[in-house]
Amino acid sequence: MRLKRIDGKIVARKIIAKGIFLISIDLMEDFDNFAPGNFVMLNINDFENILSRPFSIYSADKRNIKLIIKTVGSVTNKLFKCSLPQDVSIVGPLGNAFPELKGNNLIVSGGIGIVPVFELTNRIDVEGFFAGFRTKEEIFLIEEIKKINNISSIYISTDDGSQYYRGFITEYLEDYLIRNREGDFNIYACGPLPFLKKLWEISRRFNISNIFGSFETYMACGFGVCLGCTLDTSKGYVKVCKDGPVFSLNDIFGE
Ligand SMILES: Cc1cc2nc3c(=O)[nH]c(=O)nc-3n(C[C@H](O)[C@H](O)[C@H](O)COP(=O)(O)OP(=O)(O)OC[C@H]3O[C@@H](n4cnc5c(N)ncnc54)[C@H](O)[C@@H]3O)c2cc1C
Ligand code: FES
Repeated sequence: MRLKRIDGKIVARKIIAKGIFLISIDLMEDFDNFAPGNFVMLNINDFENILSRPFSIYSADKRNIKLIIKTVGSVTNKLFKCSLPQDVSIVGPLGNAFPELKGNNLIVSGGIGIVPVFELTNRIDVEGFFAGFRTKEEIFLIEEIKKINNISSIYISTDDGSQYYRGFITEYLEDYLIRNREGDFNIYACGPLPFLKKLWEISRRFNISNIFGSFETYMACGFGVCLGCTLDTSKGYVKVCKDGPVFSLNDIFGE
């Protein structure tokens, strides 16, 4: 695991949906190759925000990294409002990655959880890509997903029905699985904890054993020393930053 800090500058920022923006960071040193699910700890070099924050890697090359960020609190708001260029530093790529399995792969994302699964779509054949958003103003990355050749079908929902299927994306997935009972599926997911729990319950009902989720828990250090990201599972405590962020959901929610 690389724990070296790389200094950089945010050189561009673009709003891509309501409360969601993309930042482009030029780096002073080479960034290692990343795998889908890896993240970086980002620090904005600010006395009011000493702790770094975890963000999934949307895309990266040697001297540039792009992140997609939703404004929720102090650091994300500062990243949204700061004048550019803004000095930052990152540590990463950190964490494990999604397995890349053959077979009938289904990707399911909730909200900002679409970011860590985006790169996965470039690496595996995808039978169905399911993306849920709260409302049409918060939809993003779908045009980019549509350009990827190895995705057979795309299913999009909004909770309020303002565009596409009305309801939760987990319901849309259930409808799909009822219509395709014979399929032997692998599921890859990212979203809030209740969303991942619901997906795991669905996987049990349809006898799907390969189900992997990336967790977006609160993190303070990002490399296993603060215990800030611990999940209590039936098999004991796991640290999302060090043991994850990607887990078999059977290991997290199973007996
Ligand atoms: C592996 C990983 C990958 C992530 N990838 C992305 C990404 O690609 N894009 C993105 O926008 N966000 C991502 N997140 C979430 C992101 O790290 C948090 O939104 C960010 O740290 C919030 O910082 P803040 O200073 O703006 O909020 P704070 O001021 O620290 O908190 C504001 C409010 O949000 C709550 N909060 C903070 N962090 C979280 C969290 N992780 N889950 C739930 N509630 C939280 C706090 O309790 C508080 O109520 C990821 C998290 C993890 C663990
Ligand atoms: S964030 Fe510190 S142990 Fe995981």
